[in-house]
Amino acid sequence: MSAALSDTRDFAAWRLAQQDAVERALERWVPADAPAGLGDAMRYAVLDGGKRLRPLLVLATCEAVGGQAAAALRAACAVELIHAYSLVHDDMPCMDNDVLRRGKPTVHVRFGEAQALLAGDALQALAFELLVPDDGSVSDAMSARLCRLLALSAGADGMAGGQAVDLASVGVALDQPSLEAMHRRKTGALLKASVTMGAATGHTPPQTLALLAEYGACVGLAFQVVDDILDVTADSATLGKTAGKDAAADKPTFVSLMGLAQAQAYADRVLSQAHDALGRCGLAHTSTLHALADWVGRRVS
Ligand code: IPE
Ligand code: IPE
Ligand code: MG
Ligand code: MG
Ligand code: MG
Repeated sequence: MSAALSDTRDFAAWRLAQQDAVERALERWVPADAPAGLGDAMRYAVLDGGKRLRPLLVLATCEAVGGQAAAALRAACAVELIHAYSLVHDDMPCMDNDVLRRGKPTVHVRFGEAQALLAGDALQALAFELLVPDDGSVSDAMSARLCRLLALSAGADGMAGGQAVDLASVGVALDQPSLEAMHRRKTGALLKASVTMGAATGHTPPQTLALLAEYGACVGLAFQVVDDILDVTADSATLGKTAGKDAAADKPTFVSLMGLAQAQAYADRVLSQAHDALGRCGLAHTSTLHALADWVGRRVS
């Protein structure tokens, strides 16, 4: 067997094992017993769906830096909870007005708008609760650092800010720097934080951290460019969400800006910058992070 094939098999096995560990942890940590059915809406939004890319980035980075596995599992689930909350709100009628997510009716379709809003709110709070366990399993200093990284990526200068720009840009032909800035915020920030949070579970020297952050930012930007592409090229059944929404809603995307072929070439260029940053970061065990960047580039859903 060639080295490349064996690497691909190793990565697939690693990915399945980590996705399973994340699923089991989320199953344990997202409560069913929140009042008035809120727990049902929260669990519906989070469990049994999604690629779990952000948790995988946290866990792979933790492994690369030799970090603390228990803290990384909490960080992985916390990032996924923020992501899941952002999807619940993104799908609401006041935002993208989508009815299908992860192959199921969206949370507001299934539970109503008010419950969807509250489920998102509660998932966001739970994310930070997970980072501050009261059993001493994560040091106070590490908890604080993880909370700060997650808050910065989810807030006004990260995901929420990017989503505000997205909504303000309907019908607007953004130029490339503006579109890139929007994508870096709305999607890139949380993927970058997944990497820097994984790094924060260990002792990572500043130069290594800076290059890992660059890797994460590039993977994050490329991920949203590929999302723009798949919105045009894939079908709803494969995506598990409604295809063709961006053009229908007159959203500026990398496809509307430069066309499909150029957008794919752009994503490939950004991903090669990610590989390059990783290659220079000085860590020995980065093959899983390289494989995750490749996975982002060739994903079909
Ligand atoms: C979809 O994210 C929303 C974007 C940020 C583009 P994912 O494609 O990671 O969605 P799931 O988690 O796999 O459902
Ligand atoms: C969403 O971007 C980014 C988020 C912060 C949720 P999109 O609106 O393109 O994501 P999809 O295509 O609905 O998954
Ligand atoms: Mg959106
Ligand atoms: Mg959307
Ligand atoms: Mg999209």
